[in-house]
Amino acid sequence: MLRDLIIKRRSYRRFHQDTPIEPDTLKELVDLARLSSSAANLQPLKYLLSCDPLKNDLIFPYLAWAGYLKDWPGPCEGERPSAYIIILGDTEISQSFGCDHGIAAQSILLGATEKGLGGCMIGAVEMNGLRKALGILSRYEILLVLAIGKPKETVVIETVGPTGDVKYWHDDDGIHHVPKRTLDDIIVG
Ligand SMILES: Cc1cc2nc3c(=O)[nH]c(=O)nc-3n(C[C@H](O)[C@H](O)[C@H](O)COP(=O)(O)O)c2cc1C
Repeated sequence: MLRDLIIKRRSYRRFHQDTPIEPDTLKELVDLARLSSSAANLQPLKYLLSCDPLKNDLIFPYLAWAGYLKDWPGPCEGERPSAYIIILGDTEISQSFGCDHGIAAQSILLGATEKGLGGCMIGAVEMNGLRKALGILSRYEILLVLAIGKPKETVVIETVGPTGDVKYWHDDDGIHHVPKRTLDDIIVG
């Protein structure tokens, strides 16, 4: 079951933008992050939620999508996320956030997957612009943006070939292929 959920939780970048996501849904997802592990149990992460089209429009311009797909500028209007969860680090609690935000992000996206939603972690964020656009206080470090919506694309897992190329690609039918290394490749002893 968990394996199925992990396989289903792919990075989705095209969504049914007109499918709304309720604030309570985002809160349920953040609750999964709240219950996740945190180094020294400091729990320094805070969350900024958006599921309002106008607020979503403020966030979108500061995100970079699918760096390997050079001819794809990111989701067009109508295929953009319906919601975002922005993971912030509260510097009044800790100066370093280790891998807490990665764990939180995976918990949130697995929860989203279970609800029939999908998303993508976005680390390539124009931080200063986003900070200004949303009025995010300087005490908060912007760590990750999670784009969330009802997926409008198919993503399939491939095996990394002998050349070792890990770049994902879109085929002519718009299907997104994401290569993964084999178990033999990653277990070193
Ligand atoms: C920390 C982190 C940052 C990421 N940043 C971006 C990003 O800025 N833009 C993007 O389109 N995808 C981003 N991704 C998604 C990765 O490209 C994706 O995880 C990878 O292609 C593998 O696909 P999968 O998640 O379906 O396994 C990020 C993923 C992680 C874990």
